[in-house]
Amino acid sequence: MPPAPTPAPTSAEPAAGCADGPAGDPVGGIGAPAGSTARPGPASGSRSGRRLLFPEGPAVDPAGSHHERRIRSFRPRRGRVTAGQGEALRRLWPTWGLDIDGRSVLDLDAFFGGLPVVLEIGFGMGEATAEMAATDPGTGILAADVHTPGQGNLLALAERAGLTNLRVANGDAIILLREMIEPGALAGLRVYFPDPWPKTRHHKRRLIQPEFVELAAARLAPGALFHCATDWEPYAEQMLEVLSACPELENTAAGGGYAPRPAFRPMTKFERAGIGKGHRVHDLLFRRR
Ligand SMILES: C[S@@+](CC[C@H](N)C(=O)[O-])C[C@H]1O[C@@H](n2cnc3c(N)ncnc32)[C@H](O)[C@@H]1O
Repeated sequence: MPPAPTPAPTSAEPAAGCADGPAGDPVGGIGAPAGSTARPGPASGSRSGRRLLFPEGPAVDPAGSHHERRIRSFRPRRGRVTAGQGEALRRLWPTWGLDIDGRSVLDLDAFFGGLPVVLEIGFGMGEATAEMAATDPGTGILAADVHTPGQGNLLALAERAGLTNLRVANGDAIILLREMIEPGALAGLRVYFPDPWPKTRHHKRRLIQPEFVELAAARLAPGALFHCATDWEPYAEQMLEVLSACPELENTAAGGGYAPRPAFRPMTKFERAGIGKGHRVHDLLFRRR
């Protein structure tokens, strides 16, 4: 069943705090979702009336005023969408994209053909996400970000690799978790190198806060992994404190500290940049009780 067309972003589409990378022109064909052609029909997102670039692509602020004003953990930034990214968005978004409009609960089984589903929040340009999806075809990856160039890049990468276990979600992942995912529905949650918001007055914008962790833990199935990584030492300390304080989670690391980086997590673009600046990287691996 073809998915409902979604409203479009504008030339003023805000992008996230990630550096843009080039998307090559997509080649090859993206496969049909294993065991499923169904896509939950998200209700249409907001239309701003500004110039539409991708009439069938991701919406600008899909949850719009439907949800209360909230602190945003992402940094709106104008990002240039390359020709290849734009082409991927136009062609692939209607089938593989999902606007986070907060209006319907997703049927993840139908969406991913019954695969266990891991949510990744903040995939940036998506290289690590595509790599993880390719090496683990038995897991469905729901990859959420607000970054339009990254969405196009990831769609292009997915098509090129022939991935069938990946969907790209556009918008605030907090609304996705809170309004669109059922309790206990996720087999895992990944938050790799979230914006560190280093200034004290911006700390409230950090994603990993007690309220968020409580919400996230409630959406995880028993035994599911909540995996964070950061190269920003003070944020790593905050993550460890907040995750350790959540009664529904237990630290998998011996001694209750940071975990060794698991083999399944490829190096991300932001990680590489952090290491280049001499930062130490910390992984945190907690399990839902
Ligand atoms: C610093 S980048 C890291 C990207 C990638 N994980 C990496 O390591 O290269 C953080 C990303 O998280 C996204 N982000 C932050 N808060 C978000 C939210 N609430 N919902 C969706 N994406 C979010 C930003 O747009 C940005 O692309």
